[in-house]
Amino acid sequence: MKKLALTGSSLLFILFLAACGNSDNTAETPQEAFENNCAMCHGQDLSGGNGGPPLDNLGSKYTKEELVDIMENGKGGMPAGQAEGEEAEKIAEWLQEQQ
Ligand code: HEC
Repeated sequence: MKKLALTGSSLLFILFLAACGNSDNTAETPQEAFENNCAMCHGQDLSGGNGGPPLDNLGSKYTKEELVDIMENGKGGMPAGQAEGEEAEKIAEWLQEQQ
């Protein structure tokens, strides 16, 4: 009986560890977020490519707020909803550092 109870609690402990490990995977770097959401149109190295213009020469063209707005609401041929909220802000800050 005692042995059984021990096995049960170690199993719970392992499940607990596994659940914590999973939540870590959602912490994307801005670069990863860009690669997942934007690179297919703007290129891995921001040089443009499949239909999107290059993003490595924006200079002071856009503020962070304007970049977030473009990601959330689209612009011209760029569809809306490419990134939203905190993720969009993270990408906008990162993009501005790439100039
Ligand atoms: C489906 C393809 C596609 C995806 C995905 C995409 N874009 Fe775009 N993006 C475009 C196109 C096309 C334009 C040109 C829009 C226009 O001016 O007509 C554009 C324009 C832009 C511009 C303005 C560039 C300028 O010089 O005015 C920015 C900034 C931008 N995209 C950022 C992003 C970011 C950041 C992401 C990811 C969160 C992203 N885009 C995802 C296609 C895409």
